[in-house]
Amino acid sequence: MKKKRSVRRVNSVTSSRKEPLESLLRKDGLRLDGRGLDDLRPIRMEVGVLDNADGSAYIEHGRNKIVAAVYGPRELHPKHLALPDKALVRCEYRMATFSVEERKSPAPGRREVELSKVIRESLEPAIFVYKYPRATIDIFIQILQADGGTRCAGVTAAALALADAGVPMRDLVVGCAVGKIEGKVAVDLSDVEDKLGDGDMPIALMPTKKVITLLQCDGNLTPEEFKQALEKGIVACEKIYEMQRDVLIERYSKVRDEVTEEQREEEE
Ligand code: CDP
Repeated sequence: MKKKRSVRRVNSVTSSRKEPLESLLRKDGLRLDGRGLDDLRPIRMEVGVLDNADGSAYIEHGRNKIVAAVYGPRELHPKHLALPDKALVRCEYRMATFSVEERKSPAPGRREVELSKVIRESLEPAIFVYKYPRATIDIFIQILQADGGTRCAGVTAAALALADAGVPMRDLVVGCAVGKIEGKVAVDLSDVEDKLGDGDMPIALMPTKKVITLLQCDGNLTPEEFKQALEKGIVACEKIYEMQRDVLIERYSKVRDEVTEEQREEEE
């Protein structure tokens, strides 16, 4: 059952308005941020943003700001954790103390432990873990600013960081939440829609394999609404995948050009 959080606190998170919200839809049928029900928030991605990680990525998804870093495949310590037949994938999702309106304790809470687990489980099916027995692949996701759907945007960024680290993968993974607001299915819920809406359904998808690796549902959806939400969520993930692919192509064609340029200079 979806628990609605404090309206006053939600308003203070999303705007300076303190009066309670009457509806999550405007009179013209659009959402409070001007989007249609099927529209994504603006998304910006960057790859290779950290020098000290093997792979990294940064994503702005709406007002979410998230950094992901990947180390590995590398030797695992302590060794007794090693798996004899495959790499151990570890994931740490953390929210910065300043990422939300009410200061978050720096100690990892139950929510962060749970999200670390579901994000790891949504990424692992895409990784060729059997190539690296006894090794580890460590994924770190740091939420700098949260605005609803951080686990999904975290998955999208972590998949980019894994690709940037050169970890062999069967596919990328993309995350996007779908939900229900004012009785209507809506794509990519913002913080206020997540908190005051009727339901929230985070999805992660391996887009070319068409495999769903994460499906959670908080709230009440009828079978028809669930089907509609799933279909819309998959379409949304496919749109985000196009952006992921473009950003990787852009980054690595730049790297290739730089390498070719260096080789040319060495030859001269
Ligand atoms: O972020 P996601 O939707 O994956 O997870 P959630 O637990 O459904 O959280 C929804 C939103 O609540 C987050 O994205 C944050 O914007 C907000 N939140 C918050 O304001 N304070 C917290 N301690 C945790 C989350």
